[in-house]
Formats: sequence, C-alpha cells, structure tokens
Amino acid sequence: MTGLDDLFAHANAARERAYAPYSHFGVGAALRTDSGAVFSGCNVENAAFPLGVCAETSAISAMIAGGERRIAEILVLGPGPKKIAPCGACRQRIAEFGAGARVHLADERGEVETFALADLLPRAFGPESLKP
Ligand code: THU
Repeated sequence: MTGLDDLFAHANAARERAYAPYSHFGVGAALRTDSGAVFSGCNVENAAFPLGVCAETSAISAMIAGGERRIAEILVLGPGPKKIAPCGACRQRIAEFGAGARVHLADERGEVETFALADLLPRAFGPESLKP
C-alpha cells in the first residue's frame, strides 16, 4: 500500500477507535512527516464537553511524541459519506508544523479532495510571525 491509500487506512483504523460518545461523530486523521513516517489519531471527547480533542490534534501529539516535527500531508476522515475539513483550531495546529502541508479530505469510499493548508488558512499567524 502506498501514498494516500496508506494514509486512508491509518485514518480509518484510528476513526474506528474514536471516543465520541457525546457527538457520535467519530473522526480519524493520519499524517505523513517529511521523513515519510506516518502518525494517526482520533477524536477523544470528554463529559466536560470543551475538553474534547480533535483527531488532527491527536495525530499531531503522536507525531511530536514520536520525535518528528514536519507535516508534509494530512488526511482527515469523518464518520459519514461527506468529506469534512479540519476545524479552525486544527488548521492553526497543522500550520505550526506544516505551513506548506497538503490537506486531504476523504470520504468513506476513499474519494479524496486535496487543498493546500495555505488556502484553508490564509495569512496565518505562525512561528515566523514572532520573529522581529
Ligand atoms: N472533530 C474532529 O475530530 N476533527 C474535525 O476536523 C472536526 C471535528 C471532532 C470534534 C468532536 O469530537 C466531533 O468531531 C464533533 O464536532
């Protein structure tokens, strides 16, 4: 398995483990770093609703814990037939580690639509913004 099939399989496996008892909206995400390593994550909700974490954020945490920091591409897979796009906060989190990343929105059949993160989050505030 190569390319997006690989990311889709990882996102799908993560989505099956999503903890979403409140929204019943399981999400999976899988990202590939510049080195080619793949990390995945799912949403993890909480009875204290605002504490829930998105799938993309979980995948980024796994990447950092795995010792990597550069996102080349990330695929997001929602629960239904519709493609879903990362929420605003997750776009910002992706930008921190991959301002040039490609973002793949997948549906359950594996159909994918690809965007540049820069088009989903134009004129982003990022690490460079803090430099004088
Ligand atoms: N969610 C994600 O995990 N990623 C997204 O891109 C959008 C939303 C989660 C958050 C919450 O657990 C559930 O989906 C419903 O909003």
